[in-house]
Amino acid sequence: MLSRRGFLLTSALAAGAGAVPTGFAAEKSKDWGTVRRQFELDPNYIHLGLFFLASHPRPVREAIARYRQQLESNPLQTVERLVFGGPEEYVPTKVCNAIASYIGGSADDIALTQNTTTGLAVIYQGLPLKPGEEILTTTHDHFVHHEAIRLAAERSGATWRKVPLFDAYDSISADGMVERLRKAIRPETRVLGVTWVHSSSGLKLPLRSIADALAVVNRERTPERRVFFVVDGVHGLGVESPDIVAMGMDAFSAGTHKWIFGPRGTGFVWARPEVWSVMRPLMPSTSSAELFFAWAGGKPPDMPARATWFSPGGFQAFEHYWAVPTAFEFHRAIGPERITGRIHELNAQMREGLAKMPHVTLYTPRSKELSSGMVCFDVKGMTAQQTVQRLAERNRILASTTPYAVPYARVAFGIQNTPDEVEKTLAAIRSMA
Ligand SMILES: Cc1ncc(COP(=O)(O)O)c(C=O)c1O
Repeated sequence: MLSRRGFLLTSALAAGAGAVPTGFAAEKSKDWGTVRRQFELDPNYIHLGLFFLASHPRPVREAIARYRQQLESNPLQTVERLVFGGPEEYVPTKVCNAIASYIGGSADDIALTQNTTTGLAVIYQGLPLKPGEEILTTTHDHFVHHEAIRLAAERSGATWRKVPLFDAYDSISADGMVERLRKAIRPETRVLGVTWVHSSSGLKLPLRSIADALAVVNRERTPERRVFFVVDGVHGLGVESPDIVAMGMDAFSAGTHKWIFGPRGTGFVWARPEVWSVMRPLMPSTSSAELFFAWAGGKPPDMPARATWFSPGGFQAFEHYWAVPTAFEFHRAIGPERITGRIHELNAQMREGLAKMPHVTLYTPRSKELSSGMVCFDVKGMTAQQTVQRLAERNRILASTTPYAVPYARVAFGIQNTPDEVEKTLAAIRSMA
């Protein structure tokens, strides 16, 4: 399948994805009702878990359908053309360009993955860790993040340690969290791994301040001893400002199938080129011409490593991958700033309503700086599971429980939701008193 002609052409890749027509004009996006109608959501429910796994908006469904049709009618030539063809048609570059034009930074520093989990494994297994070194993380991260660390530590002989960022939910401060992390760093610490927005509580971390604190630590270290800053960013991407690379992390993993509403089974890792260059790939990649030609020539590839070496290879659910740029274009048409504003407005309305209820414990901080698109709480006398079940059965409101050792009830208001849905949800919870 790997045609030499195709690879020669792709090795001369041109940048510039060009805009992906979505059929969703910017004017239409001014009306949130029109935005909502792009999703085929069951109107009999209030959907408060749309971050969990994306429902595809119409432009994304149509892009997937177009690519699927091409694959159904002629899989061989479609893949030859779009994956191994010339630079104008080579879709992986267009996907990386679309991601880079949203998060900032260069498309050359992006590896394509299937989800956040795969990306975290690519990062932690790829970093140059050895016995005597340590990965530092927090007690608040998702299972897959801790598993990626545990497995990488086991294989490399490094150790890992978790620290809490706060003692109680009502005493969280940005400075306090940064200070705790700074103090927790030891001479043997080589990686700091955190989560941008905690799906355990809805807390948002001050990534820029953490990166600044780490820069001070790294100033005293040689390049071989510096601490890498790794971020699981999946619940900030598509909610918060897209100026992600500017926040100063070394490596960032996220799925594009949650808040970005991209095709299910898609995601990416962005890392600084200096970080990719010291990493080792976990999986064979079929996205890199130089790897193929090194193999064909019977020699190892020329170092240093670069991002394309890290995209897990082999054939993929191509119609989903190729439709990723359409999801970013959908966000662009609506406007990332408007999306951030709307999501914060709805979730603040929810938090303020819950904070007034004596029978509710609110875990998510009330300030905009420390919160994002989800709200976690408990109703006194009920388990999280009971609360969520009652909302679904009596009110057709679809909330979720947090998948952590201590689960909470969780609601998340996205751009498909309305202030009226917030009020209905508050009324349903009020009636549980
Ligand atoms: C904080 C966090 N990280 C990672 C994941 C896993 O995401 P993915 O399914 O994209 O691997 C989740 C799942 O919702 C999550 O909440």
